Amino acid sequence: MKIIDPKVYHKMPEGILEGDEVKHYKKYLKDVKNLYKYEDEELNDSGTIMYEVHSYGKGDEDKKGNLFWGLTVMNPVYIKDECNMTRGHFHEDLNCAEFYFGLQGEGLLLLMNKDGEMWAEKISKGSLHHIDGELAHRIINTGNEVLKVGACWPTVSGHDYKSIEDKEFPYRVFNNNGEIQLVAR
Ligand code: F6R
Ligand code: ZN
Repeated sequence: MKIIDPKVYHKMPEGILEGDEVKHYKKYLKDVKNLYKYEDEELNDSGTIMYEVHSYGKGDEDKKGNLFWGLTVMNPVYIKDECNMTRGHFHEDLNCAEFYFGLQGEGLLLLMNKDGEMWAEKISKGSLHHIDGELAHRIINTGNEVLKVGACWPTVSGHDYKSIEDKEFPYRVFNNNGEIQLVAR
């Protein structure tokens, strides 16, 4: 019998997911500028990182039952008071639920059903959020510090971004001098 070191550490206090097999991508403002109400050439500024996603999964991604473990890191960036948001998606397989959990910072989890009805849950350190497989989900950083949200979801979930592009979440989220406002589109 042997005892081996874990392959990955989720350093909860530091909010870091690291290991050789951890995948990682960054979304720059220029990649996601279409999400925001304010449109201007200046948003093409390539240097601004809006959010980063780290994920780790084991085994065949097409095999039902396998899981991803992830971490989304969202910077406190505002586009004319509109809060930083993820693209938001439905899972392609609507049977696939997901857990989110707050690790650092303050935010909102926007949830939307197929009829376009939306509601939100507050995210903060220690908050746990079950996302039904049939719900679209988007993370919003409403605070002035980095928001870190952990996640676990089936590898077979897939991501349907098109449905959100076609029918957006009905409310935008703004922070006006510390007051969080949900504004209908
Ligand atoms: C996975 C999941 C998260 C998001 C991440 C970025 O199913 O929900 O890992 O992928 O928070 O959000 P999107 O993908 O909407 O840009
Ligand atoms: Zn998801």
